[in-house]
Amino acid sequence: MIPDEAIADLRARVDLKALVGEYVRLVKSGASWKGLCPFHNEKSASFYVHPDRGFFHCFGCGASGDVFAFLMRLEGLTFPDAARRLAERAGVELPVQDPAREHEHRKVRAREERLVAVVEAAAGFFMKQLDEHPLGGMAREVWRARGITDETAESFRLGYAPHGWDGLVGFLRQRGYQASDAEAVGLVVPRKQNDGFYDRFRHRLMFPISDHQGRIVAFSGRLLDPPPDAPSEREPGAKYVNSPEGPLYKKGQILYGLHEGRVEIRRRGWAVICEGNFDLVALHQGGFPNSVAPMGTALTDDQAKLLRRYAERVILLFDGDAAGRKAVRTSFDVLAKAGVDASVVTLPPGADPDSFLRENGREELQKRVEAAPGIVEHLIDDAASHGIRDASDKARAIASLGPVLAKVASPIEVRLHVERVARRFGISDVEAVRQQLRQGLRQRREERGERGADRSEEPANRPTRPRMRTEFSKVELGGLGVILDLDLWRSPEAKRFGELLTSPELCAIFDTASRLVEERGGVEAPALLQELQENEAVTWLGGRLAKPEHADEVEGLEVLRTCIPLLEKRWGAARKRQIQDGILAAVRAGDQARANELRMELQALLRGASQKTGSRGDDGDESSRFEDHDDDGA
Ligand code: UTP
Ligand code: MN
Repeated sequence: MIPDEAIADLRARVDLKALVGEYVRLVKSGASWKGLCPFHNEKSASFYVHPDRGFFHCFGCGASGDVFAFLMRLEGLTFPDAARRLAERAGVELPVQDPAREHEHRKVRAREERLVAVVEAAAGFFMKQLDEHPLGGMAREVWRARGITDETAESFRLGYAPHGWDGLVGFLRQRGYQASDAEAVGLVVPRKQNDGFYDRFRHRLMFPISDHQGRIVAFSGRLLDPPPDAPSEREPGAKYVNSPEGPLYKKGQILYGLHEGRVEIRRRGWAVICEGNFDLVALHQGGFPNSVAPMGTALTDDQAKLLRRYAERVILLFDGDAAGRKAVRTSFDVLAKAGVDASVVTLPPGADPDSFLRENGREELQKRVEAAPGIVEHLIDDAASHGIRDASDKARAIASLGPVLAKVASPIEVRLHVERVARRFGISDVEAVRQQLRQGLRQRREERGERGADRSEEPANRPTRPRMRTEFSKVELGGLGVILDLDLWRSPEAKRFGELLTSPELCAIFDTASRLVEERGGVEAPALLQELQENEAVTWLGGRLAKPEHADEVEGLEVLRTCIPLLEKRWGAARKRQIQDGILAAVRAGDQARANELRMELQALLRGASQKTGSRGDDGDESSRFEDHDDDGA
């Protein structure tokens, strides 16, 4: 257990808006900031952060909480781990509580730090080799020939892995790094025959790959021409050698260029996805620093989700060949699932982004980016313009689009797409096209052994909105909202309003908040929500705390003042019914005295005395309910 004071201290020190801003693009909205919820797929922003209250809330999925909740949920951390991260961030030491756990954690962290240190050392070594190794210039020449400047290369920390078998092995040994660590990150490989290790990367141009926190976790090494006087190797080897997966590196979770480009991606709100390491570097240099590349694999769900934290839209910029075309199709499924909108830039056959930029310049590419059709339009046009020789090709091609259109959420868009299919394939009977598309979807589902409604074919973008089971009075919610927005707890209006509340849930909110104000001088959103976890209206409360609707106190008080007579009137009406029932009951019971008493009370009520009175909850004792509240008036 971490002591409460330490937790409160962290909560106060960590800027929630800045923390969230590392994952989500936030725009100002009143007193709050809003953006796309990182916890569910959505296309329009319903995720609010209130920086002063240190509190976030999503109106789409209901996620809410403070800095701890945010980090725990997003990074899948336990509370102590989240606290540790936040402490690191805030530069404070947490008191040690559970020595065993702490020890285990320290061990894992220490190992990770050691591994990162080895990788960093290797990156530095490879950079140095550019100048120090006699063949280092060969790597430099490759990027220069592509128009990549030395500055750009340096910012990406490109390097040269030396020719030979033990350049890096020797360097690491000399610097005192453990061979087992270098092996764990895949930089060196144990020899089969003898003891010892040899370099995995030999005579290659090295691209260090960072994770989204900016730590180098892997390398991608590109083949170079064989050295002029070296005995030619038996075979040239793969074009790229990449670090194997290990404790630091999971390739499906890393996007090359994301760390370098994350600020620009967030700023522009869209990212370019390309395929090649060179394309990525060339794009960053050539006016598209918002580019990322999956590491030589098809885009994965994890990568799409990761990207989704930064941008809601992507441009696919793949090579203009068959492989590139296929990559668009496979990316579509992944992006649709993650709720990322995509457009597609088609390059001329044989071109890749790097060569296109060099030959045509950034304006030309920018034009294509701006004119890029949506991915569904692209897939339709692509299907209609490739490999159609006869009617059966056509039917097959249309059927292949069925699963694509099934992922489009908006009915209007679906309709437009269906019409586009008809047009592109030159079929005037739109209904026939629709049938063929449906047929294609059915077929796909049968092939996959899916029956009936298939969740994965449903549009991703369907948050289930949290609903309150109880209907609350608009006036009660409205007034309580104003008090929450503006912290009006101490005002006479709020006190009066509180007395008139009838809903037990809203009364509980009012009372708990008022108590916190008394005890601690103010309402702390996380504490309030903590206490009211079981309250039916907690979702409403979370939303209101994160996204106040009133910023102006004069106006807010005005709203509150209009609520009060409405509640009084309602309260009076309810009381009237109650008294009438009471009179009836008294008459039936033959209790004339009681009936008369109630009749007088009813008359007083009808005369308007009740307008100024009323106090919730104490049903039995009329005298207290009808005592005068004139001193409440402001
Ligand atoms: P490309 O063959 O398009 O490479 O592969 P490239 O980087 O554009 O190189 P140039 O322009 O031909 O010189 C695209 C990406 O696929 C991965 C790499 O990440 C590469 O950048 N790849 C490719 C591998 O991982 N292994 C390979 O053998 C080939
Ligand atoms: Mn290329």
